[in-house]
Amino acid sequence: MMSIENKVVIITGASSGIGEATAYKLAEKGAKLVLGARREDRLQAIADKIIAAGGEAVYRATDVVKREDNVALVELAKTAFGRVDVIFLNAGLMPNSSFSALEQDNWDRMIDVNIKGVTNGIAAVLPEFTAQKSGQIIATSSVAGQKVYPGVGVYCGTKWAVKAMMEALRMESAMEGTNIRTATIYPAAIQSELVDSITNEASRAGSRALYDAHEIPATRVADIVAFAIDAPEDTTINEFTMGPTTQAW
Ligand SMILES: NC(=O)c1ccc[n+]([C@@H]2O[C@H](COP(=O)([O-])OP(=O)(O)OC[C@H]3O[C@@H](n4cnc5c(N)ncnc54)[C@H](OP(=O)(O)O)[C@@H]3O)[C@@H](O)[C@H]2O)c1
Repeated sequence: MMSIENKVVIITGASSGIGEATAYKLAEKGAKLVLGARREDRLQAIADKIIAAGGEAVYRATDVVKREDNVALVELAKTAFGRVDVIFLNAGLMPNSSFSALEQDNWDRMIDVNIKGVTNGIAAVLPEFTAQKSGQIIATSSVAGQKVYPGVGVYCGTKWAVKAMMEALRMESAMEGTNIRTATIYPAAIQSELVDSITNEASRAGSRALYDAHEIPATRVADIVAFAIDAPEDTTINEFTMGPTTQAW
């Protein structure tokens, strides 16, 4: 049985919020981190901080929408640390608005990053995991992947897609005997840069008020990721719904 210590963990969307908090948490517990996101300066600062604290981390500027960037991140893990044990598919965007606003560019961005970011990540790591007959794929869905909220339609659609894909992956792993563990996390309001990146003003103001009233730190999600990784290899803890105690979701 192998716990978090010495596991090689890839995190996408590692440059802020949940991904950044998870990187620090897992590094503290002795994991070797491979960080991906588009903002390379942020990744470098995070890796420097981990290394200064005695941990291990490498990074690569990554756009999860590009298949080759996902493959390159897996290659970096193998070059730097010799293997991959876990991938946390966490990159995501939430530029919400109602359908009547016709923000098709934002719809396309969410579909690309939130869905293809996950399928591209799965494809990049699956050959390794299948060959070694072990591995863990963790994804960040959302409470918007369990319910539907008006004004959040496309985001909900992408996060429901994550739920569906991860469940099929879990079943296929069991049926194919590959020992690949899966976990999907469904957070409610978590402190990060997600809300401030909403471009539709009314949508941003609404979310800002909700988050100001309820949000909890991103380390709460990092704790869940650590828990999922730390579970015995014969145990898949499939889904985690979590959020502020005060939020009705
Ligand atoms: N905060 C919440 O309340 C909440 C609730 C439920 C679910 N979630 C989900 O949690 C995940 C993390 O979000 P967060 O809340 O931590 O927000 P965040 O601080 O905005 O972080 C989003 C991360 O995704 C990365 N990203 C965006 N587009 C990318 C791309 N094309 N390629 C690679 N990385 C990309 C960003 O990095 P770059 O900009 O540097 O690329 C950043 O590291 C998302 O999937 C989000 O949907 C968040």
